[in-house]
Amino acid sequence: MSNEQIIPENQTFGDAKATPEVNPEVALENQPNANLEATPEITPPVVPVVSPKVPPKVSPEVVVSEVTPKTAPKTIPQAPLSPATPKAAPKAMPNSTSKSTARRIVVTSGKGGVGKTTITANLGMALAKQNKKVALVDADFGLRNLDLLLGLENRVVYTAVEVIAGQCRLDQALVKDKRQPGLALLPAAQNRNKEAVSPEQMSQLLDELAKSYDYILIDCPAGIEQGFQNAIAGAREALIVTTPEIAAVRDADRVVGLLESQSIKPIRLIVNRLRPAMVKANNMMSVEDVQEILAIPLIGVVPDDEKVIISSNRGEPLVLADKDNPSLPSIAITHIARRLEGEQIPLIDLMAYHDGLLSRIKRFFLT
Ligand SMILES: Nc1ncnc2c1ncn2[C@@H]1O[C@H](COP(=O)(O)OP(=O)(O)OP(=O)(O)O)[C@@H](O)[C@H]1O
Ligand SMILES: [Mg+2]
Repeated sequence: MSNEQIIPENQTFGDAKATPEVNPEVALENQPNANLEATPEITPPVVPVVSPKVPPKVSPEVVVSEVTPKTAPKTIPQAPLSPATPKAAPKAMPNSTSKSTARRIVVTSGKGGVGKTTITANLGMALAKQNKKVALVDADFGLRNLDLLLGLENRVVYTAVEVIAGQCRLDQALVKDKRQPGLALLPAAQNRNKEAVSPEQMSQLLDELAKSYDYILIDCPAGIEQGFQNAIAGAREALIVTTPEIAAVRDADRVVGLLESQSIKPIRLIVNRLRPAMVKANNMMSVEDVQEILAIPLIGVVPDDEKVIISSNRGEPLVLADKDNPSLPSIAITHIARRLEGEQIPLIDLMAYHDGLLSRIKRFFLT
């Protein structure tokens, strides 16, 4: 394994000091994606995006669709998160004071199975393709699968647990991706329970990673128990992933509250697995519906597409697998990576794209 040297031998965690705020909201000029859009599978319609400094009640980043069906109530009942809800508010997280300007972003959701790991793997790959140094941290102790999605499972020797226990160095545990220089994975232990690591230890681990990487993306486990507390420890920003389903949105709403109470911001929204045909038929919440409930800035919408599942099963994130002919989800995730960098890129109007596709099919049969 060709792991790079991250920290000198015997170096311990914890030399933390005050950190400057990174302002990811700084908007650059709108730069069309020459690489991506030169050879796309489709030419997706777009709508302009405005990045607000203060999240408005309804973000102007809304995808403007021709029809805005309402399938969900405006307010949602506050119910316990699945699988469990703590009785008391969580303890304040240890605030990391590392001097590094690395972006520390937790990818979280509340409800399980909405696509956190898929987004983490693809977003990490997309950022690395943009020449960023990216560390992906699997915080799902006990049920890790980020290594599988990245196709790196056979190269895992040590995990974060051994690093924390002082049984190996951080650089020994990091698995560097040979396909995409700049991308490395810090695996989670599979056979340990979630209590094997404390939030303080996770935070110190992130401080070490922050010395060598531009981005640290933390793949959060489902729920808001110990694993969630570990995953958000040391994170400065959050990406909330939700599918357009009421249960997922409700859980995401609870998590937004928890993140805000830990002063993690900005918190941005990714709507994953959108199916425009279902939205049109009033069988799925629209992006506007989701935004209205969560009231956090939208950073991207990823369509539901079987290509995502196929590429995940092959251990090759979609943004890498279809790089010569990018699919819609791949373009959507690459655009999220560029928006994180401050670029103003219009959202793909998936509803309009769907309408265009339908009229092309109709024309085909009528002529
Ligand atoms: N945009 C998409 N289109 C189609 N399938 C998707 C999409 N995003 C995710 N999936 C599929 O959804 C399933 C769950 O995804 P994933 O494991 O990333 O969710 P998760 O939130 O990390 O789950 P958990 O909470 O258990 O960690 C996987 O089978 C994945 O391939
Ligand atoms: Mg996961």
